[in-house]
Amino acid sequence: MKPEMEQRFEFGRNWHDFIQKNYGRDKVETSKNHLLTFLGRDSLKGCSFLDIGCGSGLHSIAALDAGAELVHSFDYDPNSVAATRYIQDQIDNPDNWTVEQGSVLDDSFMESLPQYDIVYSWGVLHHTGDVWHAVRNAAGRVKDNGSFYIALYSADVQVDPPPKFWLDVKQKYVSSGWLTRRCMDFWYVWRFQLHRNPLLLPHFLQRMRDYKKNRGMNIFTDIRDWLGGWPMEFVYDAEAIKFCENMGFQLKNIATGEANTEFLFTKKQLS
Ligand SMILES: C[S@@+](CC[C@H](N)C(=O)[O-])C[C@H]1O[C@@H](n2cnc3c(N)ncnc32)[C@H](O)[C@@H]1O
Repeated sequence: MKPEMEQRFEFGRNWHDFIQKNYGRDKVETSKNHLLTFLGRDSLKGCSFLDIGCGSGLHSIAALDAGAELVHSFDYDPNSVAATRYIQDQIDNPDNWTVEQGSVLDDSFMESLPQYDIVYSWGVLHHTGDVWHAVRNAAGRVKDNGSFYIALYSADVQVDPPPKFWLDVKQKYVSSGWLTRRCMDFWYVWRFQLHRNPLLLPHFLQRMRDYKKNRGMNIFTDIRDWLGGWPMEFVYDAEAIKFCENMGFQLKNIATGEANTEFLFTKKQLS
């Protein structure tokens, strides 16, 4: 069955659960270091920061911690908004951090926002159902000379089975009820974790334990995220670069090889 566009994966539920179990200074530090390293900065002092599709809110608090003067976070999913507000509460709701519900595809909402020194959207725009519309709207919020930091699911990374297979799986997952979803979770484990070999069960159980130890997350949470992550589009890196260059951006940094390619663009000042 082909899902309607309104049928989408409930990412926010996972994020809410994740952050309540995992929030801590170590996570903020890890995110902050990653953010600053990729941006090539020592701090975000004096910068305004827009986090589109803030999910757990972890990267928003990391930006604040890195010295951002003002942070604005939004997400389409009310549970992601609740997860971000949960973190905001942990640091007594600072005045310079706004969290709200909104969609990057909503043109009037996006146009109502000011422009920011840094626009950040990690792992989001390809999950909207209209990736290029989303990239264009996000890019429109970057100030002249500002930074545009996005991560998009890469079509250049070889996945086996290929993207078409996974897109079909995701559509089926998101259209299904609780029972079918649980059957699909186990199908995934049997085929892609155990490789149809019951002798690999102890190895899988060990992985489950390590997962919990390292990330505090249940391995099934990540499996559900992967199986259900719909809508979803795969994007070629070169296509993303060309699209942004055509909007007046210049590529400053790129990290490839993982499922999400990270891009850092600077918006050229109009002369
Ligand atoms: C894979 S998560 C990434 C979360 C976060 N950026 C991170 O790096 O951890 C994708 C997020 O994008 C959000 N999202 C999907 N469509 C959106 C839209 N149209 N506007 C804003 N957020 C959206 C989802 O609700 C979800 O929280």
